[in-house]
Amino acid sequence: MDRIAITGGARLQGEIPISGAKNSAIKLMAASLLTEEPLRLTNMPRLADTRFLGKLLQRLGTEVVESDGEDGPETLLRTREIVSAIAPYDLVRQMRASFNVLGPLIARTGQAKVSLPGGCTIGARPVDLHLQALEALGARIDLHEGYVYAQAPRGLQGARIEFPFNSVGATEHAMLAAVLAQGETEIANAAREPEMVDLADCLNEMGAKITGAGTSTIHIRGVARLHGATHAVMPDRIETGTYAVAAAMAGGEVRLTRTRVDFIQALVDKMAEAGVEVTPHNDGLTIRRDGAKLQAVEIDTAPYPGFATDLQAQFMALMTLADGESVIRETIFENRFMHAPELKRLGADIMVSGGEARVRGVETLEGAQVMATDLRASVSLVIAGLAARGETMVNRVYHLDRGFERLEEKLSACGAQIRRISGEGETEDE
Ligand code: EPZ
Repeated sequence: MDRIAITGGARLQGEIPISGAKNSAIKLMAASLLTEEPLRLTNMPRLADTRFLGKLLQRLGTEVVESDGEDGPETLLRTREIVSAIAPYDLVRQMRASFNVLGPLIARTGQAKVSLPGGCTIGARPVDLHLQALEALGARIDLHEGYVYAQAPRGLQGARIEFPFNSVGATEHAMLAAVLAQGETEIANAAREPEMVDLADCLNEMGAKITGAGTSTIHIRGVARLHGATHAVMPDRIETGTYAVAAAMAGGEVRLTRTRVDFIQALVDKMAEAGVEVTPHNDGLTIRRDGAKLQAVEIDTAPYPGFATDLQAQFMALMTLADGESVIRETIFENRFMHAPELKRLGADIMVSGGEARVRGVETLEGAQVMATDLRASVSLVIAGLAARGETMVNRVYHLDRGFERLEEKLSACGAQIRRISGEGETEDE
């Protein structure tokens, strides 16, 4: 099992190019199931999760070819025919987003058998809204022995889908299924994350008729078939926010490029309130902090454009050194404070009660052995390690590899003292 060792105290100075967004790339890859023609995705991140979905797609019949294009890594996906409409437990269990192949499989073949994903470390994460959306589109859904059996022998029918609350995955799933349905679909109370826009843009480039993505009402006019396309994956807003917080934590000046500041406006506002200098530019943003003490600020996670739950752990790490008490409320997932006890091992003062964490800033953190059970929690420990005295050893690095491309390389290029220590392989679910 690989570990990452960080010797804290180095200020960061330099430039970090942001990769394509993991959480968009994996949904875009699933879109390739909807056509027999090739889908070429550029600006692809090379991550454990994208590799993993590639393997599942290959089982379903997709040819997956990775290459280095003019503008960075790309992946060519082509599903001439679906050779199997079954996504087994072992594959879905390891990555929840694999569940999103269900809609495209029904849309393309009229039937599918896909394992239910089960809970994960950050919460129960049911898929009831996904299934309600597919049922509204006319799929017959039966659950047996942990599997969803779905059938729509005469194809899916456009419908009005009204979600009771925002769900990123269910909104994407509804879009992926409805593009080939007969007639019109309206998705009300849709998620508004930028990934909705990226998916809709890609599907439209493939011939779909989607309007309103990025707002709470999405309209889809079903088409009989989709064709091939080339699409550039949007920049990873969570990677952007993570390095912005890392730069603020370590101090110094870091320019984040190939990204968009408006994707992380809620974070930028909170960082400015905490005393971090953020300068937008046309290719991203620059983060600057001199030696001045950070101020404690409060955050509540919320659906986009609110403060992203995927940046909550990183921001908590930042607040461990702020002046005063910061209250952090997690409103999206019921169990997403597992980084708190690990940050406490570094000397942080954090009290968690239900969905609320109170972080009282301390003078210094001290390096220690730490470990986390999910991707964003793990990176919050790396961030804390950048400012901690001495050495921090982050165990279970495979979580980081799921979602951060070349993390050590990007940080060490800016002067961070960070290195990977290779060990025996080990895998676990999200
Ligand atoms: C996506 O998860 C992201 N994952 C998550 O990022 C992210 O934290 C989350 O959106 C919120 O922004 C991917 O895109 C692969 P949701 P998703 O459906 O789609 C409940 C990371 O670290 N819910 O918006 O699963 C759910 O339990 C990951 O990269 C239902 O009750 O999130 C949660 O409380 C972690 N029933 C809330 O809705 C459903 O059918 C929002 O979840 C679906 C969701």
